[in-house]
Amino acid sequence: MRKVTTIIFLMLALFAFAALLMAEEAAKEEKAAHDYVGSAKCKMCHKAEFTAWEATPHAKAFDVLSDEEKAKPECVSCHITGTLAKDGSTIEGVGCEACHGPGGDYKSPKIMSKKKWAADPDTYKQMAIDAGLVYPTEETCVRCHKKEGNANFKEFNFEEMKGKVHPVSE
Ligand code: HEC
Ligand code: HEC
Ligand code: HEC
Ligand code: HEC
Repeated sequence: MRKVTTIIFLMLALFAFAALLMAEEAAKEEKAAHDYVGSAKCKMCHKAEFTAWEATPHAKAFDVLSDEEKAKPECVSCHITGTLAKDGSTIEGVGCEACHGPGGDYKSPKIMSKKKWAADPDTYKQMAIDAGLVYPTEETCVRCHKKEGNANFKEFNFEEMKGKVHPVSE
């Protein structure tokens, strides 16, 4: 009889522990969700990158789809930015946030301030990263630049390609 009670107790403890882990996981996801704001919001402070990006195929990646294709989930996923903007609209094309992460929180002048960033780059860079800023790596690109589902696939070389996303001479 005592054995059964012990087993039941252990099972209950295990359930409680699993529930706790799941709640923690959900809280983490909640924190990771930042809003997409669209490339125009980045333009006011990053005019050079914006102008250079606007002239690349990424800016027009949604326009190359036909009206039917624009309604197909199996096509749009790699031809838009994120899923939905704050107002529920689709962000067309491969915008800033497709590579740098949704900017709703990091674009704040409390974080992306020229003065503060210059005075203490490490702190503000870390704040931006915590607020969702991504410094793109090859992984960022191959989410879309891969063969599966992409009939137009071309070989992708990150080192050669990364300079073409917003070529700015500094
Ligand atoms: C209020 C002006 C402002 C807005 C809006 C803004 N930024 Fe910034 N951003 C800055 C400043 C200032 C820095 C600090 C580095 C610098 O001085 O260029 C910075 C830094 C960055 C960096 C890191 C640069 C580095 O050298 O480490 C990236 C990437 C970036 N911003 C992307 C974006 C994107 C994408 C958006 C739109 C979602 C955006 N920013 C919106 C002002 C802004
Ligand atoms: C996995 C991501 C992905 C999916 C899904 C995808 N594409 Fe693309 N598409 C790309 C990439 C990346 C390119 C650029 C070519 C390359 O470098 O692979 C591209 C290029 C294109 C082009 C331009 C071709 C050119 O030569 O300029 C068209 C048109 C296109 N895709 C249509 C579609 C259609 C239609 C679908 C749905 C059947 C689709 N794509 C699904 C990633 C994708
Ligand atoms: C297709 C992916 C992609 C898109 C779209 C993109 N970026 Fe970038 N961005 C990068 C990569 C990759 C780097 C790092 C370049 C390197 O390491 O040489 C970078 C670097 C930057 C930097 C750091 C300084 C610099 O110029 O190198 C800023 C600021 C920036 N991006 C802003 C923007 C803004 C604003 C937009 C939209 C107008 C944008 N990016 C769109 C991939 C992207
Ligand atoms: C959200 C999906 C997506 C991501 C992420 C993405 N790309 Fe693309 N990229 C595309 C699509 C779609 C096209 C084709 C646009 C067209 O031809 O209309 C493209 C085209 C390009 C082109 C133009 C190729 C040509 O033939 O002119 C370059 C260069 C490129 N991407 C580099 C990159 C780099 C570097 C990264 C990562 C830093 C990246 N892309 C991330 C979807 C993406």
